[in-house]
Amino acid sequence: MRSVIVGIFEDFETGTYKKLDETLNGILNKFANSHEKAKKYKELTTVTVGWENHDLIHIIGLGKEKDYDVNKHRKLIGHAIKKLNYDATILLDTFLPSDVNISKFAFATSEAYHLVVHQPYSLKTDDTSQEEIIVEIESKYHIHDALSEGELLAFATGTARDLMNMPANKLTPTILANTVAEFAGMHGLETEILEKEDMQRLGMGGVLGVNQGSTENPKLITVKYMAGESSDNVLALIGKGLTFDSGGYSLKSSSAMYGMHGDMGGAATVYGAFNAIVYAKLPVNVMLVIPATDNMVSGDALKPGDVITMSNGTTVEVNNTDAEGRLILADALAYAADQGATHMINAATLTGAIVKALGDHTTGAFTNNEEFVAQFLEIAEDSGESLWQLPICKPEQKLLKTSEIADIKNAPAGPGAIIAAAFLKEFVKDETPWIHLDIAGSSETKKAHELGPKGATGAMIRTLYNYAKTLI
Ligand code: BES
Ligand code: MN
Ligand code: ZN
Repeated sequence: MRSVIVGIFEDFETGTYKKLDETLNGILNKFANSHEKAKKYKELTTVTVGWENHDLIHIIGLGKEKDYDVNKHRKLIGHAIKKLNYDATILLDTFLPSDVNISKFAFATSEAYHLVVHQPYSLKTDDTSQEEIIVEIESKYHIHDALSEGELLAFATGTARDLMNMPANKLTPTILANTVAEFAGMHGLETEILEKEDMQRLGMGGVLGVNQGSTENPKLITVKYMAGESSDNVLALIGKGLTFDSGGYSLKSSSAMYGMHGDMGGAATVYGAFNAIVYAKLPVNVMLVIPATDNMVSGDALKPGDVITMSNGTTVEVNNTDAEGRLILADALAYAADQGATHMINAATLTGAIVKALGDHTTGAFTNNEEFVAQFLEIAEDSGESLWQLPICKPEQKLLKTSEIADIKNAPAGPGAIIAAAFLKEFVKDETPWIHLDIAGSSETKKAHELGPKGATGAMIRTLYNYAKTLI
């Protein structure tokens, strides 16, 4: 059995489909005139036909032409492919509103297809993998490059999702470092891995402090991809690589602790974006920086009230050992700047507060540079990813300074997501444009969706990739 997938607009004009419809003996026209509901967005109707070498036509409602955009298209294609039982050919041209960027639609079609057929990471011993459906995407336009780009972005997203879904005993900081190094090696890039001794030498009290209760060695993973024409601009992508967050002595409850293998979601996101950038051979300069450790309890662990000294010399009173992400990121942000980053974006599953504020599909954005974030917000919107800016205000910055013994506290009482961002900002120089993405909500979903199963989402990878393209 082979099927063909056709899109049909609510405000269907025979002209648009005429040529195709002639070869289909007028099926579309008849259909369009007699099935009003079937043209509504996401309605899927299957008609049996014998057409060329196809046996079925799936007709998908696209809604009104003026409302149909590339982000709706991506979801619709994901939705449709999930329902397929047979190989299919998508007739892309039937999905195109007039005057659109055809490459973007082709890119999204391919991305959706490859995301949906990606076999998710699983340790089940009986083979649960499904037989892969083959989908071809047909158009009269030249879409080959856009299809490849969509495929590589989906591949990078799938890789990031799999990494985040791995349990903590399967993804230690060492394994994470090896994974990155292997990828980099395949592309002729060098990976620098700072070991505990290196961190001691550099005085990275943040990463070392969080790690000190653990039997797993910490790693600071850096890969530089310098393919830009000049080396004036270097974007650092920095990700929280907390492979398990027990909370430390400020211990989490068992229900809050379950799932905390995903606390390296920020690392997965920036690694995913970096993968796509490198695969696509974008002529840009990007530096990947991942501080990796877990946050455990033992006789050696940090105790609430301990004071540590960060790599930039700032002393921090750790009043809450569960606010550990900001400690490892602080050292990583300072390190990225030392390594020549001219602008930085970090991603982190940083606070439960962001989930309360924005829910589980919106990422929180914080910045020290309004222009930078304005541009980034626009790209997120174009990319179909929900991103909302929150402020870093003076009162919260002041709250940090209320320690009686050290320069700052890591977790003074107050609005959690903003305080965490204000803490990070202490470690970024004013002249370096910086965006912090709190993905604690958006990086995971409790329900399967159009473009993937429940679990890690790979949120913000598409936006980061599209942002990197603006640096060309
Ligand atoms: N990794 C957590 C944040 C988190 C919470 C991620 C829920 C994903 C889902 C972070 O390290 C943390 O524990 N944050 C604390 C900070 C608090 C102690 C100031 C929080 O949000 O409760
Ligand atoms: Mn924590
Ligand atoms: Zn954490």
